[in-house]
Parts: sequence; structure tokens; C-alpha cells
Amino acid sequence: MAASGASATEALAAAIDAFTAAGIETPRLDAEILLAELAGLDRAALIADRELILQPAAARAYSEAVRRRLRREPVAYILGRKGFRHIDLAVDRRVLVPRPETEMLVELAREVNPETVLEVGTGSGAIALAVADELAACQVTATDVSDGALEVAIANAGRLGLGERVRFILGSLPEGPAGFDLILANLPYVPDSDGLPPEVGQWEPAGALFGGPDGTRVIAEVLAGLGEAGIGAPVIGLEIGQGQGELVAGMVRDAGWPETEIRLDLAGIDRVVVGRGG
Ligand SMILES: C[S@@+](CC[C@H](N)C(=O)[O-])C[C@H]1O[C@@H](n2cnc3c(N)ncnc32)[C@H](O)[C@@H]1O
Repeated sequence: MAASGASATEALAAAIDAFTAAGIETPRLDAEILLAELAGLDRAALIADRELILQPAAARAYSEAVRRRLRREPVAYILGRKGFRHIDLAVDRRVLVPRPETEMLVELAREVNPETVLEVGTGSGAIALAVADELAACQVTATDVSDGALEVAIANAGRLGLGERVRFILGSLPEGPAGFDLILANLPYVPDSDGLPPEVGQWEPAGALFGGPDGTRVIAEVLAGLGEAGIGAPVIGLEIGQGQGELVAGMVRDAGWPETEIRLDLAGIDRVVVGRGG
């Protein structure tokens, strides 16, 4: 592929061909993002400059990145980072790659404008850190049962200068009884038998993905745990998967939030259940 002194245009074309042949969904986009990053350019500059010659080190790095992508490793793991709202998060195989639809939970936080937030299952810290970044007076408590994920989140908090306002706890929930203004969670919700694209199923942590036969087991456990520990909030927001809206809304009502709303994402899929009156 991109040999020493290769033209960027040729390296790009070869990568796009290889990605297409491998069945990668967005071959051009992925090839351009990787090359732009490794050549130290933005994508527009890369596309505009058809005469660009890659330095040998950049050509070698690109070859390696293309090789990794052909093994279906997600672009975010190859680059080691992912943008979410206004922050850049370091990510690796210990954490789920933050998804754009998860930004809906940060939007809910902006609507509620809480002083205190509990986020359950923080992964890379995406939600907790974006909330702390956007709501300057807000104190966030973020948990995760995965110590690897928590290490990633704590490092992200430090790098973003948000460590003072986000407290991380290893485990599912903080000690109760406790009250927050808002509880947020994007817990594993993929049904165990669902087939997933290789980028997800082969690379992302299973403990961040699967939620039992119908996908709602972890959500049910956490809702029960909140009640048992006496941890409450007037508003709760849970990310969910396709077709889970009515089921999870019922679980949220049973757990003590009598008014529920199901919000759809841009693709028209049930994506967030909001519970109020808790
Ligand atoms: C779908 S990922 C979401 C990560 C991150 N919040 C995001 O939106 O990108 C779910 C996270 O919940 C964690 N998790 C799984 N079961 C949990 C539980 N019972 N309590 C707390 N965290 C849990 C996983 O380790 C994983 O990091």
C-alpha cells in the first residue's frame, strides 16, 4: 500500500479499494480520516491537495493503520481518540466508543440544568465529562463495574482538567441513601443473541454491550439497585435500543418515576427513556 514517498492520492485510492473489498461500510470516509490524521492535515486539505507526497514515516504509519482497519478494528481505537460533544476522549479496547446518539443524554442534562448528576456505567467518561464540561456548576458522580474502563475515564478527566468536578466510583452504584438532581445511564442493552458488525462484536468490550435475552437485564438490575440503596433523583434518563421504549418506560415507572417519555434518535429509533416525578 502506501510505500515510502507514495503519493497521498494513490495511497488513499489503494486503501479505499481494500476497504471496499473487505466490506467496510464507509471505505472512503475511513481511509480519509486515517490518512488526514497520520499526515497531520485536516480532511479538506488532504482531499484538495492531489499532489501531496507522504513522508516515509507517514506512509508507514498509514500502511499500519490500513492493516489494522482491514482487521475491522474501529477507526477510533486506531486513532486512540473519539470526539464527543465539545471534548476529545482517549479510547481503547477497555471502553465502548462513544456514539453520537448518546449525546441525547447530555442534551437532557442541559434541559434539566442539574447541580448534581449520577452517571451509571461511564465507560470512557463521555457523558459525565461532557456534562461537567457544559454545565460549569455541576458536580458529577460516575460509576463503572469495569476497572479498565474507570482507568480510561479517570485519565480523560485529568487530561480535560475536569477531575475536580467528577468523582469516579468503581462499582455499580455509590453508597446510599443519596439524592441527585439527575441520574443518567447508557448501560449495556444489546440482546445476547443479536448479531453485531465485526467492529462492535469483535472489538468492543462485551460487558459494555450485552444485556441478557431481551437486552434489558442490566437496566433492570440498576433500577432495582437504586431503589434498594435509596438513591433517587427527580429525573432519570436511560439510553435504550430499538424496540425497548415501552418495556423500559414501564420499568422506569415501576421503579418510581411515574411520568415517562420515549425520545427517538435521528433515525427514528427509540433511544432515550426519560422518567420524571421520582
Ligand atoms: C454501553 S457502555 C456506555 C459507556 C459510556 N457511558 C458511553 O455512553 O459511551 C456501558 C458501560 O456500563 C458498564 N456497566 C455494565 N454493567 C454495569 C453495572 N451493573 N453498573 C455500572 N456499570 C455497568 C460497562 O462496563 C460499560 O463501561
